[in-house]
Amino acid sequence: MSELYARITGWGKYTPSRRLTNYDLEQMVDTNDEWISSRTGIRERRIAAPEETTVSMALEASRKALAQANVRAEDLNLIILATTTPDYLCPAAASLLQDRLGATNAGAFDLMAGCTGFVYGLVTATQFIKAGAYKRILVVGAEKISTFIDWTDRNTCILFGDGAGAVVVEPSNSPTGVLSFELGSEGENYDALYYPGGGSAKPFSATSFAERETFLQMDGKRVFKFATRTMTRSVQNVVQASGIPFNDIDCIVPHQANARIIETAVKRLKVDPDKVMVNLDRYGNTSAASIPIALCEAIDQGKIQDGNNIVLVGFGAGLTWASAVVHWEPTRPAEEAILVDDWPVRERLQMQADKMRAAVWSAQVTARTRAQEASMAVMLPFYTWQSKRRKQQRPELEAPAAEETPSDE
Ligand code: UT7
Repeated sequence: MSELYARITGWGKYTPSRRLTNYDLEQMVDTNDEWISSRTGIRERRIAAPEETTVSMALEASRKALAQANVRAEDLNLIILATTTPDYLCPAAASLLQDRLGATNAGAFDLMAGCTGFVYGLVTATQFIKAGAYKRILVVGAEKISTFIDWTDRNTCILFGDGAGAVVVEPSNSPTGVLSFELGSEGENYDALYYPGGGSAKPFSATSFAERETFLQMDGKRVFKFATRTMTRSVQNVVQASGIPFNDIDCIVPHQANARIIETAVKRLKVDPDKVMVNLDRYGNTSAASIPIALCEAIDQGKIQDGNNIVLVGFGAGLTWASAVVHWEPTRPAEEAILVDDWPVRERLQMQADKMRAAVWSAQVTARTRAQEASMAVMLPFYTWQSKRRKQQRPELEAPAAEETPSDE
């Protein structure tokens, strides 16, 4: 059997409608638009409505991704949901998503790798496909991080926003999807970005609430240094491992945390800034949702086109990092239908109808051409004889009339 690859066939995003601008934040904490935009590049972020949750946002993004891939929820084999803000501590948000989607034949689990989670999830899904174990996997990054932010802490509340993004992966015979990857973790820096309270180390208590330990806490400088160091190195490693020359990378989709982190990486990598997707000015840091949301927008903006080679790179709580070189070729060639035996009936029928229509058209054209050629072969001697006979009967057709010949006089 030839090597299998995991083609990304669908993608979708969801961002809540409510915008929280830097000017709004000026009313809430001791900050200002100039500081936030110059230090982070963020101008506004989206905040989920009270009735929205991580799963409800994941659901919207997933439906779009499934529609784009033309895959029914019941045909999914697995759902991987990358999040740090599940609806409940237990069970996994992925199980709730599986139920709401109607993905009755899918396994489901959450993946927690901070803002890096989506890339971890995509790489994991790719392995299930390459092993031939599963044929349709939904990978989602979704966060309602606004619930876990201390809105009196200017160190963190200016950075984050809510949203979700999803992709569908399916088997392919041609080299596409994740071509190379790197996953990393520096657990010794776990306390640079974490929730000190609420876990088994420091359970919920009156003290943990009073000391605001159930909210996200961050040592920004430590994360900043880690991010700039790992992003550059990891992108270099993963591109080298893919065997693709760096100049042939068409787009880099980095985790959207801070414009200065991205700019530093861009300079160190000596990459054209136009090849780098940045949308954090409008969404802030949406943690595990940031890369799939940026991916969707890069496609919408034409920064990513069929046949492109792209790099996804993330970093975050753990501290973790992950990068992947992805060949972007979402359109399935018709012959790949045979890779999936339970291909949706509608799509299979459509494909058969298209094939038959093309075959009938091609047969018609061939038959018409052959008939014309045969009739010409039969009739040519007759036309030649007829033309000769006409000239014998009317010799004036051979030479121009004497009076029409120009006179030399
Ligand atoms: O997904 C990963 C998630 N996290 C990250 O990626 C975070 C990475 N780190 C960062 O993005 C940056 O470190 C921050 C944006 C968080 C902070 O930027 P910075 O340039 O490292 O600022 P700083 O913490 O060194 O603070 C500089 C000054 C301080 O004042 P003094 O001590 O110099 O007088 C802060 O108190 O800015 C002050 N400051 C603020 N001022 C206005 C800190 N936060 C704010 C604020 N508004 N929101």
